[in-house]
Amino acid sequence: MERWRTIIEPFRIHSVEPIRLSTVDERQAALEAAGYNLFNLHADDVIIDLLTDSGTGAMSRDQWAAIQHGDESYAGSPSWFAFLEAVQQLFPFRHVIPTHQGRAAEKILFSVIGGPGRVVPNNAHFDTTRANVEYTGAEAVDLTPPHAPQEMLPFKGDMDVAALEALIEQRGSASIPVVFMTITNNSMGGQPVSLANLRAVSEACRRHGLPLFLDACRFAENAWFIKQREAGYADATIPDIVRQMAALADGMTMSAKKDGLANIGGWLALNDDDLAERCRNMLILTEGFPTYGGLAGRDLEAIAQGLREVVDEDYLRYRIRSTAYLGEALDAAGVPVVMPIGGHAVYLDARALLPHIAPLEYPGQTLAVALYREGGIRGCEIGTVMFGRHPDGSESAAAMDLVRLAVPRRTYTQSHVDYVIEVIRWVAERATELRGYRIVEQPAALRHFTARFEPTL
Ligand code: F0G
Repeated sequence: MERWRTIIEPFRIHSVEPIRLSTVDERQAALEAAGYNLFNLHADDVIIDLLTDSGTGAMSRDQWAAIQHGDESYAGSPSWFAFLEAVQQLFPFRHVIPTHQGRAAEKILFSVIGGPGRVVPNNAHFDTTRANVEYTGAEAVDLTPPHAPQEMLPFKGDMDVAALEALIEQRGSASIPVVFMTITNNSMGGQPVSLANLRAVSEACRRHGLPLFLDACRFAENAWFIKQREAGYADATIPDIVRQMAALADGMTMSAKKDGLANIGGWLALNDDDLAERCRNMLILTEGFPTYGGLAGRDLEAIAQGLREVVDEDYLRYRIRSTAYLGEALDAAGVPVVMPIGGHAVYLDARALLPHIAPLEYPGQTLAVALYREGGIRGCEIGTVMFGRHPDGSESAAAMDLVRLAVPRRTYTQSHVDYVIEVIRWVAERATELRGYRIVEQPAALRHFTARFEPTL
């Protein structure tokens, strides 16, 4: 295939799901009923759903076949051993604790090691990770250096190691129960972390006696970027790169809804026997027995097979290329996007596209609503709606106003993506006609999920 420029989907389609093609008028009515909040829509009313890449991918024939092997024994199921072996092939941590999804692993870990006065550094916390740290009374600190949206760096997800050293110096290692690295860095645009940076963070942790954990949701995408971009890894296999990442860490949390290629599932893995014991005790309280956690035997089988498929280079080449195809086409058309294009999503810079809409009239929300109204495309605002409200009820502009278009794995074809590009270009050409929104109803916290809006004009 090296002779040809076109990178094709390395699969044929064997079972299809219908998409209902709605009209602009139907979508306008759906928006009014939803209070202009895309989380309130019926998914049936969406044509191309780019709300998240989590749990929304297509499973393979072999995953569905594996589901038929699911053994639902309460303890010691063969499906558990298949899952354990597949996880430890890539992440050879001593203890693996299955959970129903990533945030359940976070909840268990932080309820054991968090608490008031503690601080958890991360290159950038995902929102549930931050919420689980803060729920225990601990503080969550992000240490990715600030980058301009257009700045082209191969590993824009890296942590600022000097800032980590300074934080350890200032707060004392006794107050830091764990250091986290999120790969890829979702909050910063799905940007990868280099092995060199992971190694530097790992060395800093070892010097201070601190455990390093990976939030490894998109580990295979990160490994592919290392193979492509980091000197010395072009000939390494993806499983080898993954094992090198794991060898620098003492544990991990995982959402199998991303690079597990499954619709549900996750795990917590670690080497420390005593900590594992305490986490398993929490698991039994909230998830289930340690050989199934929050999952059915069939889910464990689907994840085991997904982990074998996700490290396939033909899959990863197609996966990373198809996200870049969307982002690069928009960039070439003059639509402002966060560069370089990340692994799982394209981030539109709504503040740059809609300079006439003040941040407190929500340019990200405005753009997300326009993409849905015009083309039935559902993305997700990541900006002032999500981050602009403070615990005291006051409001200020977030650092950026973005719209994330997350690409589900193996789900949409190139013509779906071409349609998305056409709709976004059409909306961008008419950007000056768009008007902002005001919030008419909102809860005290996490308002982006349930707030209701109305147009300012
Ligand atoms: N960590 C990262 C980096 C994530 O992106 C997510 C989920 C989680 C942890 C939590 O995993 O959903 O299985 O509980 N991210 C999804 C998203 C929801 O849309 O980015 P979970």
